Amino acid sequence: MTGPSGVGLGETIVLVAAASAALPRLRRRIELSLAKPRSLAGHARIASWIAAQVPFYEFREPYCFQADNAPAPVAAQRRAGFERLAARYAARFARTAAETARTAGALPDWQLTSRYRVPFPFAGLIRNAFPAAVLASASQGCELIDLDGNRLLDLTGSYGVNVFGYEHYKECIARGAARVHELGPVLGTYHPLIADNVARLQEISGHGQVSFHMSGTEAVMQAVRLARYHTRRRYLVRFGGAYHGWWGEVQPGPGNPVPARDTLTLREMHPATLRVLRSRSDIACVLVNPLQALHPNAPAPADSTLTGSVRRAHFDRAAYAEWLHALREVCTQRGIPLIFDEVFVGFRLARGGAQEYFGVRADLVTYGKTIAGGLPIGVVCGRADLMRRFSAERPADLCLARGTFNSHPYVMGAMNEFLRRLDSPFVAGCYRDLDRTWQTRAAALNERLKDAGLNARVAALSSIWTVWYPRPSRYNWMLQYYLRTAGLALSWVGTGRLIFSLNYGEAEFAEVSDRFVAAAQQMQADGWWWEGVADERAIKARLLKEMLVARLRRHSSGRSALRATDTAALGDRA
Ligand SMILES: Cc1ncc(COP(=O)(O)O)c(C=O)c1O
Repeated sequence: MTGPSGVGLGETIVLVAAASAALPRLRRRIELSLAKPRSLAGHARIASWIAAQVPFYEFREPYCFQADNAPAPVAAQRRAGFERLAARYAARFARTAAETARTAGALPDWQLTSRYRVPFPFAGLIRNAFPAAVLASASQGCELIDLDGNRLLDLTGSYGVNVFGYEHYKECIARGAARVHELGPVLGTYHPLIADNVARLQEISGHGQVSFHMSGTEAVMQAVRLARYHTRRRYLVRFGGAYHGWWGEVQPGPGNPVPARDTLTLREMHPATLRVLRSRSDIACVLVNPLQALHPNAPAPADSTLTGSVRRAHFDRAAYAEWLHALREVCTQRGIPLIFDEVFVGFRLARGGAQEYFGVRADLVTYGKTIAGGLPIGVVCGRADLMRRFSAERPADLCLARGTFNSHPYVMGAMNEFLRRLDSPFVAGCYRDLDRTWQTRAAALNERLKDAGLNARVAALSSIWTVWYPRPSRYNWMLQYYLRTAGLALSWVGTGRLIFSLNYGEAEFAEVSDRFVAAAQQMQADGWWWEGVADERAIKARLLKEMLVARLRRHSSGRSALRATDTAALGDRA
């Protein structure tokens, strides 16, 4: 029997059956698409493809001083300012830069970080004028002392390790080492101090089980592995832009040559994500880095990607807490382990970390950085049923975690000093009014910057800050060199991340503030924040044009530098 369309009943039934089988899959796909971040952060394969298409090119004179199409007098003003600053920098960091250069050629890590301090077309110009000076011989109070004897106020925070000031860590390491000295570096048996560390971590984390690893990356690997083992599910959910170490599965996209097939990158603080978690039954865990509260769905800000003024940051504690509560609820309903990766924020936001600060309990928590009193570490604390590495019913089915140096006696010693000192009056003083102190300081600095008409502001998540730029400019990354020359030490991501230790008193902070404002004023006086730039769209259009010209030039002549003559191709006034 056939219907009016000529399709038989049997075929119709097959089609309807196929359609109904396909529909839930289609719905799942659509739901997943809606939950992906709008940026490339949610589309690892496309992001990797695009990254591979970007051609290398670099700017030379005079284009490098007028990449925003500024008129010749502004370019001349910038050039003069650049030379003055470079001369001051060279005088101030002569020995440190020379010694850095002697070893740097053999350090791939340094080669990468020195190359990516600014957007790559400007990197050549900067490398010559501001050679990296990354050696220091001492630390004292809030300062780093380099080989030239410069005392730089430290805003690097040692990648976040330095929460209580370097003196604190020096003492933790020295006293911790003294306490385990008798045993020495014996591995495989534990120093008895481990018992006190476990007890303190149980109290702080609110979880019964504790495992020790060698880095934050390894702690995250273990937490995710345990979640997969116990749920027997496949997918790890992480959020756009969030950093969880350099393990491939938490770093999909550019930077990792292996596709992370079992990772779903979703949108943070968005109901579409909750819908996905609610409807799927193959999610093994949800991994949260609470640092993202400062810039949800955006990667850690770095000056190498500061091509315009697109960096945005804003912290809303109540909104983020609400989001974490919503996540908690859906994870509980669906039996999905919720992992807080507190490697960065643990002990920095509050004694009890992000769990305490946002009032939400996770199933597994990772710690690292500061928790071993300055020595390398990763820790997982979690619910007993999730932390178990074997199955009572299936004796051959294990979930292993290994590491020669796990629970190293010297690390346990320094950790014990660190954990004990959390109850000291000094640390209690650091935590007192913590949020108010740092939000007030950020607001005061912003007030000064605004009053002085400067194109820079800071956004703060407690003592973790980022600089953002209200008006469009292609040269915002120059600020890092003005800051450095003014005596403020930044990490290689430049103005993307300023990390304060909590021992910064009012006097030290006032000094940071003065140096910051003076540096920004100098940058303004040197013409980098020329106000003629149309808007962010104009900057993006120009970038695209530059890339196209670079690609074409490369095809036709193999050249990779954009010169004065190329400015004609860019439709310039040159
Ligand atoms: C949130 C978070 N997780 C994991 C890591 C990785 O820690 P590690 O560098 O000790 O491997 C980091 C490091 O910055 C981090 O910030």
